[in-house]
Amino acid sequence: MNGKSVLLIVTGGVAAFKAIELVRLLRKSQCSVTCVLTGAAGRFVTPLSLQAVSENKVYTDLFSLSDESEMGHIQLSRSADLLVVAPATANFLAKMANGIADDLASTVVLATDKPVLVAPAMNVRMWLHAATQANVARLQQRGIAVIGPNEGAMACNEVGPGRLAEPHEIFAAIQSALTAPGPLVGKHVLVTSGPTHEPIDPVRYIANRSSGRQGHAIAGALAALGARVTLVSGPVNMPPPAGVDLHKVETAAEMLAACQSALPADAAVFAAAVADWRVANAADLKLKKTPDGAPPALALVPNPDILATISAMGPERPRLVVGFAAETHDLRVHAQDKLRRKGCDWIVANDVSPSTGIMGGLENEVHLVTAAGIEDWPRLSKDEVAARLAHRIAEALI
Ligand code: CTP
Repeated sequence: MNGKSVLLIVTGGVAAFKAIELVRLLRKSQCSVTCVLTGAAGRFVTPLSLQAVSENKVYTDLFSLSDESEMGHIQLSRSADLLVVAPATANFLAKMANGIADDLASTVVLATDKPVLVAPAMNVRMWLHAATQANVARLQQRGIAVIGPNEGAMACNEVGPGRLAEPHEIFAAIQSALTAPGPLVGKHVLVTSGPTHEPIDPVRYIANRSSGRQGHAIAGALAALGARVTLVSGPVNMPPPAGVDLHKVETAAEMLAACQSALPADAAVFAAAVADWRVANAADLKLKKTPDGAPPALALVPNPDILATISAMGPERPRLVVGFAAETHDLRVHAQDKLRRKGCDWIVANDVSPSTGIMGGLENEVHLVTAAGIEDWPRLSKDEVAARLAHRIAEALI
């Protein structure tokens, strides 16, 4: 990132101290950094420490005569290649979403003509509050990139999403924002990932062994090429990749609804392992054992086929629809048949026999089935498969 410059806006949260490590990483990669602190941020991290690590003047005051004569706030807002708000408090996100400019930091963000990346950090309840979620959605619609927050234990002793993304994760997001624009800039891609959970009763469900690793890696690879990515994910144990718009769902019906409301999209990749059936008579109350010990009879009904439904759409159909086929035998025949039956453009087929270690593992060996034939790809890491697929999608959309 030699020669690039970042304007880092630090707002007031416990995680503000992590800004020091972020500045250190940026300086190590020859990126110049200028920091702007809100009044509250100055209580968590001192301007002096940020000045020392950034080797640059730190700005805090909108009405500082000396700062204004040296560099006006409008000039400051345009002086860098990228604006980064880390940590971004709920209050600051709300100000950004509503165009409020009542201090130097918020004025600079409103006045800028440069891309903006925000790294939210706050209490889990504040993050999950409908107001914050609506503000973040509004910012994303305006093209502002969001990294994190991560899930985990927080300073307030609660657990859940709200932790600031780690400095190295924010650094990686900055790096990809500052490198040349990818071939998918301006394109919207929908990706499904993970398993679905189909309830039997309020505490039990039917699921499968999908980890979501391949789908999440594809979402990340597409975002790295510049796409706006909507990731609709079933329950998984991993954070979303940087810069994707995550929609969490549990059931196939919820996944279909989330996909439909994410359209229009230029391309869609259906990597989720959707349960083919759900329990028709799911109980509202927990099923109890009966005196005779007889197990409950579960009636299964088919779930909607999300891939087939989106493939059959009219004008709203994404230009490129990619499905997956998990097979244990006669892979090529089944995959070609699936391409026809589902009405999609490509099928990424893989052999998920337990001996391959692919389901839940780190590697994948796939075969790309298109109208032109079948390409056999070598065994690669799931990240490499994702990068290769993302490049193919970019070629197809040009
Ligand atoms: N799929 C979907 N909605 C479903 C079922 C599957 O969108 N209700 C998608 C998956 O995301 C994947 C492809 O369809 O892209 C897999 O199709 P599927 O028929 O489920 O294949 P397999 O899981 O391999 O199952 P089977 O061999 O039983 O057909």
